[in-house]
Amino acid sequence: MKVGGKAMRSIWVESDGVTVGVIDQTRLPHAFETVKLVSMDDAAHAIRSMILRGAPLIGAAAAYGMALAMHADATDRNLKNAYATLIATRPTAINLKWALDEVMAVLRPLAPSQREAAAWRRAAEISEEDVAINKSIGAHGLKLIAAIAAGKKRGERVNILTHCNAGWLATVDFGTATAPIYLAHDAGLPIHVFVDETRPRNQGASLTAWELGRHGVAHTVIADNTGGHLMQHKMVDLVIVGTDRVTAQGDVCNKIGTYLKALAAHDNGVPFYVALPSPTIDFTVSDGVAEIPIEERDAAEMTSVSGLTADGRIETVLIVPEGSPVANYAFDVTPARLVTGLITERGVHAPTRAALAAAFPERVAALRAAE
Ligand code: MRU
Repeated sequence: MKVGGKAMRSIWVESDGVTVGVIDQTRLPHAFETVKLVSMDDAAHAIRSMILRGAPLIGAAAAYGMALAMHADATDRNLKNAYATLIATRPTAINLKWALDEVMAVLRPLAPSQREAAAWRRAAEISEEDVAINKSIGAHGLKLIAAIAAGKKRGERVNILTHCNAGWLATVDFGTATAPIYLAHDAGLPIHVFVDETRPRNQGASLTAWELGRHGVAHTVIADNTGGHLMQHKMVDLVIVGTDRVTAQGDVCNKIGTYLKALAAHDNGVPFYVALPSPTIDFTVSDGVAEIPIEERDAAEMTSVSGLTADGRIETVLIVPEGSPVANYAFDVTPARLVTGLITERGVHAPTRAALAAAFPERVAALRAAE
């Protein structure tokens, strides 16, 4: 997507071929800064500290982290160490494990002298695949938005609600939940997006609103608790969210608060769609509530907020009484029964075991072969 008129992705390799560039997402929307990753530890730190975030981007960054590790030392020992360090950065988004396993499968059988080049190559492929997948998700999702637009009076807007940031910043480009939105906007469909602020880290208010604004998409930022009210008053036509992991039976793990939006959508007959690249499907787990590890993050994310002061400084202030205990669960699970459809690169699927297995038979076959 474009930043200041210039085409940009969320991650790239610098001209020296051995440095990875990323956008520092902790500084948005008030400052646009980039960061150079020159070592595997830099990549691990960037993922852990959420300089970069979003399931598909975490996967791509981890793949590049393996390449940085191989640039420094391509021995078996360092290969193992890099995998162990990167896999421990964040527990919920399955794209991290998927990407690391992809790179590992290529590197393990190779001689150390061949590993660095192979790692850069596979990381670049993973990035390109993500972009192609998201374009495809966009095309399938666009049909859903167009169908709703066709049932409206001329010029009446299609209102879409989204949660967190499943935009181009969360992927390599285009985003998952936002890909249909950008395509609908570019096709001239009248759309408007309600953007959940997404406490505690405010990825909706800081990142999704920033992205949509730069692309010229009409949007309104709302407090996290507003969605139910809007749905009761027929102000939302459909919900589209991203996800960090979808189980074999179609349960959806995503940013905390997604489940409450799905409940409200179900109660009000609002379609609730989840956009995802197939690497986000974890065919090894079934019951998302019981089986997906939910990341618990630093209390400071709850007790304080960052923002721009009147004199232009970015400051962090305390909003909870000192000493009050807080809980900071980063994700929740929406059971498949609350999901209308899963939008992947291969179409829109029912959130069922049978539909997912039929759409991605090679993934199920690979799993069976490994058992
Ligand atoms: O904690 P984050 O910001 O990494 O969480 C991001 C989300 O929950 C996104 O909705 C999800 O990763 C999908 S991104 C295309």
